[in-house]
Amino acid sequence: MQEPRAHWSSNVGFVLAATGSAVGLGNLWKFPFITFENDGGAFVLVYLLCIAAVGLPIMMAELLIGRKTQKSVVGAMKDAIGPAWGVVGAWGVLCGFILLSYYTVIAGWSLHYFARTMQWTFGGFPAGFSTGDLFGAQAAKAGLQLALSLAFSVATVAVVYFGVQKGIERIARLFLPILFGILLLMLVSALGMSGSGEALVFIFRPNFAELEPSSVLEALGHSFFTLSLGMGAMVTYGSYIARHQSIVKASALIVVFDTLIALIATVIMFSVIFSVAGMREQVGASTVGMLFISLPELFYTQVPFGRILGPLFYVLVALAALTSTISLLEVVASYVIDEHDVDRHKATILCGAAIFAFTIFAAISFGSAPFFSTLAIFEGKTGWFSTADHFVSNWMLPTGGLAITIAAGWFMTREETRAELADGNEPGWFSYGAWRFFIRYVAPAAVGAIVVAVLFFGRDFS
Ligand code: TRP
Repeated sequence: MQEPRAHWSSNVGFVLAATGSAVGLGNLWKFPFITFENDGGAFVLVYLLCIAAVGLPIMMAELLIGRKTQKSVVGAMKDAIGPAWGVVGAWGVLCGFILLSYYTVIAGWSLHYFARTMQWTFGGFPAGFSTGDLFGAQAAKAGLQLALSLAFSVATVAVVYFGVQKGIERIARLFLPILFGILLLMLVSALGMSGSGEALVFIFRPNFAELEPSSVLEALGHSFFTLSLGMGAMVTYGSYIARHQSIVKASALIVVFDTLIALIATVIMFSVIFSVAGMREQVGASTVGMLFISLPELFYTQVPFGRILGPLFYVLVALAALTSTISLLEVVASYVIDEHDVDRHKATILCGAAIFAFTIFAAISFGSAPFFSTLAIFEGKTGWFSTADHFVSNWMLPTGGLAITIAAGWFMTREETRAELADGNEPGWFSYGAWRFFIRYVAPAAVGAIVVAVLFFGRDFS
């Protein structure tokens, strides 16, 4: 027997939970790195445009489909549009499954780095120590990687197990303010460093000569990833919104918070890195380099109050990752709960265990298992982890996002979507006509361009 559908206890609770889903490794790990790779300024501007013109309308579309149907993604797509659209929902569930299976591995690293930085805080940073060697060594230890990702998976299951209000919302209410507080502390410290001026110029002064077509695609793809769009996570969270809570206002808040946090994180990291001569050149080589090789050492050698901020920084990464992993598990678990009539406790443990079986492959793909470490399906992506991330970011999210935009813009009627969006206390700046224009034309055209580019030209934009 199904229980009555759970709801967020309030608007604030919902906005915090959804912001928690959006703010994650995408903000702290991916965005700073791709901003660096794409030479800052102009890329950041294009990213902001994508967030506003594509991300925000699709956020509203996902939430409205969820709230209207009060079902998790498979049921929601079927109910809102038609039985055949259950396939799009299933694609989203699969996407959540895969994404969570490798996301936990990086999340697990934050636990290890927290322990390490604590050691240095109390014992001092060892002279001549190489954080590059440390990174390679820890990543290649299969037992350690399995233990870390298992710990993170268990934490994720433990939260989702307690449900929407007592689990997800409670953790978001508790962790998001802490996360924001740590971030502000770090920002103050970073702005005082000598590299902060150069960092701000790099991030905010557009130089269009540096902008390549592939950067535009990368910005668009990342706007999906960072806002948790394209796979029904926001449909699922939207299904726990009670009627008469504004979707429009909530969407705007989630998008603004996510963007703000990504920008602040980037200012912090670049201020630190640009303060050290020659560091800028060293960082360029790898996506994990900034977060797990350069920064850990710089905290102890350069950053004011770094002994305190070092461990706090990895607490921040862990909290941000956990509020995202719980929403990924919720997508998968709520599907099993709603469509297969399994109770929440059983469903979360079952799904958590099934996903962890695949986490094992990602965990051993950084050197400990030759097959999983060298597997190469996509050009330039070596290992199970990179392959899965490439497949999800470049193939699954954009195609899922395209389907959702088309569903909301072309298969739902004007009356249906209008009723849903106007049902709540809508802010004065919101124009239904503008939303409809963006969801019918602007978003599908932009996302269609990525999908075509990826499928036919193999452009890498993740
Ligand atoms: N938004 C998350 C981040 O920036 C990653 C993510 C993508 C996600 N899709 C999701 C998280 C769906 C939860 C649910 O790290």
